[in-house]
This record gives sequence, structure tokens and C-alpha cells, in this order.
Amino acid sequence: MLSAIVPPRYNQIEISLQQLSAFTDGTLDQCIEKQIQPMAWSPLAGGNLSSNQNLEALTKKIAAQYETTEEAIMLSFLAKHPSKIISVIGTSNKERMKRCLAFKEVTLSNQDFFELYSTALGHDIP
Ligand SMILES: NC(=O)c1ccc[n+]([C@@H]2O[C@H](COP(=O)([O-])OP(=O)(O)OC[C@H]3O[C@@H](n4cnc5c(N)ncnc54)[C@H](OP(=O)(O)O)[C@@H]3O)[C@@H](O)[C@H]2O)c1
Repeated sequence: MLSAIVPPRYNQIEISLQQLSAFTDGTLDQCIEKQIQPMAWSPLAGGNLSSNQNLEALTKKIAAQYETTEEAIMLSFLAKHPSKIISVIGTSNKERMKRCLAFKEVTLSNQDFFELYSTALGHDIP
């Protein structure tokens, strides 16, 4: 017999600059409303930004401005969302881990967040 219903604490979702549907399909809104912490799988899009060359170039440009890595910018973008997304990185490469950890030193400006967001979508945000 079930004695209690335990509400979920986490929801693991694919989210990255290449996969942003959770931003607008209600998934992250529901996480905020129900106090469920989202975990992003494939937060670096498996290393594939090259299918959106504008996004790839912008990520590099912003990383240079913040004197950090592209990985840090991709993870900082997710961390800035108000649902407090935790990224689940998939590498076992030590150098990549260091490049990812650099995100702890980065706080993206709102302007950079929205520029990344609109470039990832390929259109202005209404
Ligand atoms: N819940 C689910 O349905 C679900 C589904 C899929 C995965 N997951 C979990 O999520 C974890 C993370 O997923 P993921 O592995 O797709 O995450 P990810 O961190 O986005 O991708 C990691 C992969 O991308 C490569 N990579 C990252 N940045 C790169 C770059 N700039 N250039 C070249 N390669 C780059 C890494 O290569 P290197 O090894 O060379 O660093 C590694 O192979 C998985 O380990 C798994 O535990 C959950």
C-alpha cells in the first residue's frame, strides 16, 4: 500500500542552446510553479553548435568578451534561466571539465542572454 505520494524534486530534460523547446512549451514554467528543479541533459548540445553558424560565432565572441570558454557561456546561459537549471555534462575529458567549470565565474548580462536566445532561435523574440 502506498503510504505517501512523494512529489518530484527534479526533472531531467534536454535543454541547450540547440534545444530550447522547454523554454516555451510550459515545461520550465511548470518546474517553477511546482518547485521542481530542472536538470539539462546534453547542455553542450553534444559539442554541436556548428549547424547554427551565427550562434557558434556569437558564443565564441561572448566567451572572448568575458575572457572565458564557450562551454562556460553555454552553461551560464542555462543557469540564468529563473527555473535554476542544473546542467548534466557528459564529458569524461578533464580539459573539457575545466572549460565547463569556468562557468562558475560567469554571470551573463541580460543583453547577452537574450542575444544568445534570439540567435539560437534564428529570429527576434516578440
Ligand atoms: N534523461 C535522458 O533522457 C538523457 C538522455 C541523454 C543523456 N542523458 C544524460 O545526460 C548526460 C549528458 O548528455 P551529453 O553527453 O549529450 O551532454 P553534453 O555535455 O552536451 O555532451 C558531451 C559530449 O559532447 C562533446 N563536446 C562537448 N563540447 C564539445 C566541443 N566544444 N567540441 C567537441 N565536442 C564537444 C563531449 O566530447 P568530449 O568527451 O571530447 O569532451 C562529449 O562527447 C549523459 O551523460 C547522460 O547521463 C540523459
